[in-house]
Amino acid sequence: MPNTKPEALQKEEIFSKLTGGRVPGHVAIIMDGNGRWAQERNLPRAAGHRAGAENIWRILERFWEHGIGYVTLYAFSTENWNRPQTEVRSLIRLLDRFIKNEMDTFQKNNVQLKHLGHLEQLPLWLQNHIEAAIEATKENDGLVLSICFSYGGRDDLVTALQKIIDSEIPAHAVSEETIHNHLFTAGLPDPDLVIRTAGDQRLSNFLIWQCAYAELYFTDTYWPDFGREDIDLALAEYGRRKRKFGRLLPSDEKRVP
Ligand code: FPP
Repeated sequence: MPNTKPEALQKEEIFSKLTGGRVPGHVAIIMDGNGRWAQERNLPRAAGHRAGAENIWRILERFWEHGIGYVTLYAFSTENWNRPQTEVRSLIRLLDRFIKNEMDTFQKNNVQLKHLGHLEQLPLWLQNHIEAAIEATKENDGLVLSICFSYGGRDDLVTALQKIIDSEIPAHAVSEETIHNHLFTAGLPDPDLVIRTAGDQRLSNFLIWQCAYAELYFTDTYWPDFGREDIDLALAEYGRRKRKFGRLLPSDEKRVP
């Protein structure tokens, strides 16, 4: 009998079979390759970052179509301050423009915005814009979008330890939960899946504590070209992974003598 379902529905069914219905709750992304994308088109690096920023909305839509609750983006690392001042300035302006341009879309789509990293290292006017956007979206209970800007994983741990010591918590009372509660990501679930675009296969100081058990997915596609179908491929791969968290799977347990 011919399949008379609309094409979109057929695609979703195929996708659901591919993932086994298992989608990650939290996806974290290292958006790499903007510079190379621009270079291949004889454009300035800033144009690559602009194309990268424009891509964010495209991918967010696809994530929430899949019911993913948390998306975290690595937009600017603590090490990125060492890039040429013109590039740093263009990234700062892009973040500001992104927040301003997308505010309506955040509200319409129930997106809650968070910032992870050292807000106080950003220009005061940008701090104010970010804080206002966080405040305006704090009651939204749809997708939580965290933007890491002036963020580093090691720095996150150092900052957490400083806060713990300042609050005079005795050493014997410090647990993994204490550390979790003092990281920039306090209250967020750990990422289940990290996607890195543009070929390199490393974490580059991104959420190093939080990603202890994350599944890692690497693709050669540059970030500005990373689209909806690339997300589906990443999610399908995630669906095939066996997550064990250091334990045995029930099927393996049966085989243990
Ligand atoms: C890495 O590509 C990317 C960055 C350092 C910045 C990522 C920023 C964006 C996608 C846009 C701005 C973000 C927001 C939220 C407005 P690269 O420059 O290192 O690329 P390359 O390795 O090809 O040189």
